[in-house]
Amino acid sequence: MDYDRYDRVRAVRWTGEALDLLDQRLLPHRQEHVLCRSSQAVAAAIHDLVVRGAPAIGIAAAWGLVLAAQQVEAGSGAQAAERLASAIDHLNAARPTAVNLAWALRRMRARLIGAGTDWRAQLQIEASAIEAEDLAANRHMGQLGAALIAPGSGVLTHCNTGSLATAGFGTALGVIRAGVAEGRVQRVFAGETRPWLQGARLTVWELLQDGIPATLIADAAAAHLMATGQVQWVIVGADRITANGDVANKIGTYQLAIAARHHGLKFMVVAPASTIDMHTATGAAIEIEERSADELLGYGGVRTVAEGVKAWNPVFDVTPAGLIDAIVTERGVVERPDAQRMRALFPD
Ligand code: MRU
Repeated sequence: MDYDRYDRVRAVRWTGEALDLLDQRLLPHRQEHVLCRSSQAVAAAIHDLVVRGAPAIGIAAAWGLVLAAQQVEAGSGAQAAERLASAIDHLNAARPTAVNLAWALRRMRARLIGAGTDWRAQLQIEASAIEAEDLAANRHMGQLGAALIAPGSGVLTHCNTGSLATAGFGTALGVIRAGVAEGRVQRVFAGETRPWLQGARLTVWELLQDGIPATLIADAAAAHLMATGQVQWVIVGADRITANGDVANKIGTYQLAIAARHHGLKFMVVAPASTIDMHTATGAAIEIEERSADELLGYGGVRTVAEGVKAWNPVFDVTPAGLIDAIVTERGVVERPDAQRMRALFPD
């Protein structure tokens, strides 16, 4: 397929001396960039959702460590690793649920430990590799996932899993891009994804840039949409997939999986190997990020809820493996995931 035609947006860009992030808090009305010149600035950008999406925050953190390295003197990679330990910890703490953050930093640290006096250059090479591998994984997953979809299908997606959330092309949105290009996906619906509106502000905007028609629905309209027969697959990304195939993803994913099963629809999760956490047994052990109640109590800085009302704002949930028909990774597809099938594809 002509990838570039369907994939024009980029959220994370290394300029050679700073990290340029498309500010996702301001989309779709303003396209402004935040230039990060320190690892502290990158950690703050991850925490504040300037950059978001599991793979994208891993990539940003890798470049954050490259920036931290500019402030440190060391004669070897091992010595640099000691001196960069607090920067690594700070980046790692920026958000808790997406495992890609810890994965990328572990990979960067391993490269550092094995490096000699050229450790700074080695860190840059590793960050570039993490980014390039993510794009390649997404394109491969696009093909694998699209192959599961019958021609003429309708799909519903949640949150934003596209180029904005990754190095490019996207995970679930990559499958949808490939499916559209191949004529398998004929109707695309996106849930608005309250409260931060990743679907309404980001996904439908991103698809518009690439000329892919999509229809926005209120999150609350999902079960009704399923009942109308217009969608055959729900396709989502993941922030962490545990050893038994449970999937942590944006809040609301779990109820979509329940509704999909009720209506006899298929449920696909698309995520690279960097999102797989074989060291955590089940989804019950995943830390679920809770964000400020203000995200629920108002919009755009304007309070919409009566003063004195409290709100609870968990921003991820866990979909049990039993509700999932396919987990698509760049290593292959795990159908009806369970611990044994996950181990077969991810033995290490
Ligand atoms: O809070 P966010 O916007 O970072 O959450 C993002 C998601 O939940 C995505 O679905 C997930 O990271 C997969 S992105 C390829």
